[in-house]
Amino acid sequence: MLPDRLPRPAPVDNTEYRARRAALMAALPADSAVLLPSAALVTRSRDSEFPFRQSSDFHYLTGFPEPDALLLLLPGRAEGESVLFCQDRNPARETWTGIRLGAEGAVREHGLDQAFENAEREARLDELLDGRSILYLPLDDGDALALAQAVRDRLASRARRGARPPHGFADLAPHLHEQRLIKSEAELALLRHAGAVSARAHRRAMRVARPGLAEYHLQAELEHEFRWQGGSGPAYASIVGGGANACVLHYVENSAPLRDGELVLIDAGAEFDLYAGDITRTFPVSGRFGEAQRALYEVVLAAQERAVAAVEPGATLAAIHDGVVRDLTAGLIRLGLLEGELAARLDDESVKRFYPHSTSHWLGLDVHDVGAYRRDGESRPLAPGMVLTVEPGLYVPADDDIPPPFRGIGIRIEDDVAVTAEGHEVLTADVPKRVAEIEALMVNQ
Ligand code: GLY
Ligand code: MN
Ligand code: MN
Repeated sequence: MLPDRLPRPAPVDNTEYRARRAALMAALPADSAVLLPSAALVTRSRDSEFPFRQSSDFHYLTGFPEPDALLLLLPGRAEGESVLFCQDRNPARETWTGIRLGAEGAVREHGLDQAFENAEREARLDELLDGRSILYLPLDDGDALALAQAVRDRLASRARRGARPPHGFADLAPHLHEQRLIKSEAELALLRHAGAVSARAHRRAMRVARPGLAEYHLQAELEHEFRWQGGSGPAYASIVGGGANACVLHYVENSAPLRDGELVLIDAGAEFDLYAGDITRTFPVSGRFGEAQRALYEVVLAAQERAVAAVEPGATLAAIHDGVVRDLTAGLIRLGLLEGELAARLDDESVKRFYPHSTSHWLGLDVHDVGAYRRDGESRPLAPGMVLTVEPGLYVPADDDIPPPFRGIGIRIEDDVAVTAEGHEVLTADVPKRVAEIEALMVNQ
């Protein structure tokens, strides 16, 4: 019998893309313009390319899936406020690349007001941007900046004949990223699905794990599930670290054998319609926690559960992180990995030796999603529609001054959490994290 296929959520529709563009324009001056390029294809080697992945910003505003496109937003323009330039139709090349939408397809399928193929770009761009006082663009994108400068220079050279070059360029990112930080219902449905697919993949890896396999066998299980459920693949490089490899935060080799008596840490998430899942689970290779492993695991788990419970409107990521630091520090003192009083160890931040990263990041189209973390120098209050991870961990070095049973153990537990009006929703609840639940799932190996 074929494994289950989860029902797919609806894609974001054109009404929503239109509303996003309108909301962005409403936040910008009426005589400004937005200029935003798509992602480009990237060479992998010689004439092969990496699979194309649209830029998150561009996708957010258009849903348009091709490279070599450029979006202009022109508030108040009578002939249409959203104008797309895209790859030319070219039947000979489409034999190799597959069909391109072309200008007609872009308007028909994606609801842009107007579209032109790239062959017309140079001739039309100046006319479209003439008289726009400020051009908003991603200032960290050298190509976008060069394009804007070229337009400005050409218009400036014709100023005596009445052309009106822009007065300046401004960064689009703060405006667009503030908008992306608050997820719509359609986005939450996609994130929920990315979370559900990722959870299923983790369960599958837990069931298969056993001594004698290698880390990459679990990676293969995870990534099979991502594709089986219609995801594009992993949302970031999957981490499968057995034993002390779990202490390497960005371990991606996934090439070592899985050994009896060791834990394995998996940090992996599916990408679905460009939205990311991001889950970490740590479990025993042979299905039963050892005593020291379990003691350390319970410290991380208690901190993680308390942090998840603290997610609600008005809470801050700084306060949630401080709670985690306190819980982990107290736990390490209890287990004899830190000495002295809690207050002194909090003061000297001793936990950083075992917990060097922060507890949360935003999650969305990007795994480390956009949006400011601070407002006026302070950690900003959470609000409904924000989505974040909660991922405390402890990574114990194999050094001599650590009590032997704890040496070389790495543990992280990570869930994806949406802030709701009432509190929060855990998007990745469908994979066990309590010791008894993990052991029960693995007992049937
Ligand atoms: N997988 C990346 C992270 O957890 O932040
Ligand atoms: Mn994460
Ligand atoms: Mn992660």
